Amino acid sequence: MSRLQHFGWFLARGFGPHGWGHPYLDWDYRWTSPELYQQSARELEQAGFDFLLIEDAPSLGSASTIDLRVRHAFGGPKHDPLLLAPYLFAATQRLGVIPTVNPAAYLPYTAARQFATLQHLSGHRLGLNVVTDTGSARHFGDAPQLDHDAAYDRAEEWLEAVRALWRSWGEGALVADPASGVYADGSKLDAVRHRGEYYAFEGPLNAVPFTHGEPVIASPGGSGRGLGFAGANSDIQLALAPLTEKSVRDYRAKIHAGAAARGRRASDISIMFAIQPTIVASAEEADRLVAASASPSDETLRVIAQRQSSDLETDLTALDLDRPLDLAIFGDHVSQGSIRRLTGDRDPASTPLRAHLAALARLGRMSDRSGFVGTADEFADLIEELGEWGNDGVLLWGDLHPVTVHRVLDDLVPILRRRGILRRELVDGGLHANLRAF
Ligand SMILES: Cc1cc2nc3c(=O)[nH]c(=O)nc-3n(C[C@H](O)[C@H](O)[C@H](O)COP(=O)(O)O)c2cc1C
Repeated sequence: MSRLQHFGWFLARGFGPHGWGHPYLDWDYRWTSPELYQQSARELEQAGFDFLLIEDAPSLGSASTIDLRVRHAFGGPKHDPLLLAPYLFAATQRLGVIPTVNPAAYLPYTAARQFATLQHLSGHRLGLNVVTDTGSARHFGDAPQLDHDAAYDRAEEWLEAVRALWRSWGEGALVADPASGVYADGSKLDAVRHRGEYYAFEGPLNAVPFTHGEPVIASPGGSGRGLGFAGANSDIQLALAPLTEKSVRDYRAKIHAGAAARGRRASDISIMFAIQPTIVASAEEADRLVAASASPSDETLRVIAQRQSSDLETDLTALDLDRPLDLAIFGDHVSQGSIRRLTGDRDPASTPLRAHLAALARLGRMSDRSGFVGTADEFADLIEELGEWGNDGVLLWGDLHPVTVHRVLDDLVPILRRRGILRRELVDGGLHANLRAF
């Protein structure tokens, strides 16, 4: 039995040079102007998506490897998605917009005030994807970089402080009664004197309270701390895990345990699995793509090496494809998780670099669950199956170029709607209202 699920779009490489390296660059959209994003945001709204979430990293990475990041625009430049959000709100009526924010970049008072302003301006459609990246710390002062868990401690303190400021206008504080001429009752404002480990400031907030809830909080961390943060604080968790029944159910159980530990209900949080499908017109075409991916050209491997060089901040493009990869080339700043994603279960000492890159090039079929290439009907089968395991929603992953959005959605939207998985219309009342509509 199909049931409705929530859909979001994840603009995975942020607000950057859209179309770079793709033939569709010749559509001549300018990535620094709002029209490209506004056009796609309108399509997502018409498709019944709850929200558009925009990845971000404020930094170009380590000074010594900046060229690797910007040469092919894989790691930057990136403009600030928070400032793109108002343009997207202006172009739509009901779509939620969730820019990524890092607590390191905003003092709680500044954050609470700016986000409150946008929440009002947008008709309560703002969300915030709270991330804990620590690599960009040097742009915000000379304090030592926090470790992984301390960054989560700081994020929790930050969010608690921001929420205390949003709640500093108590019940009845806003009067707005033209007959008496009274706008507000100052005695009902909480002074919020915060003295924490990372922040010290005073309130109350110079912004009026919300009518349709606070900005939605999303989070993407997948570590134990990350899942705990989500259970305790988030309205949406961006989930990345193998899409087997056991893995999906285990992931959900961990988040729900974190929520219960803080007195929250499982239904307070929408867990949305991130998927990047390649939707094609026929099963034959899907088979052909998957077969071709098993023997990638050197040109394909070179592009993958460029992308990996940006993500790993280590130049792989100059290495011999037919020699094993010496792990000593990766500095301490490179995440072990990212290195493992490159090398998989293969023995680095005996595996040529070509084999690692070829493994990343390999595609799989949706129909046998070995990958994400398939027809719209096969994708709908997958989503339906996720729904049977209790799944709340799906985050489709890609850039936001209108060509990409159409390629993914053209056939998919009608099929998902006919099967009763995708809603026909968003509701009024903001992002919370849409997340709770079913
Ligand atoms: C779907 C998804 C989206 C993410 N978006 C961002 C992002 O926009 N900015 C960022 O710095 N990290 C992003 N991350 C990475 C996480 O915030 C985090 O750095 C990473 O998962 C490590 O945290 P963890 O150790 O708790 O997993 C994303 C991760 C996932 C799975």
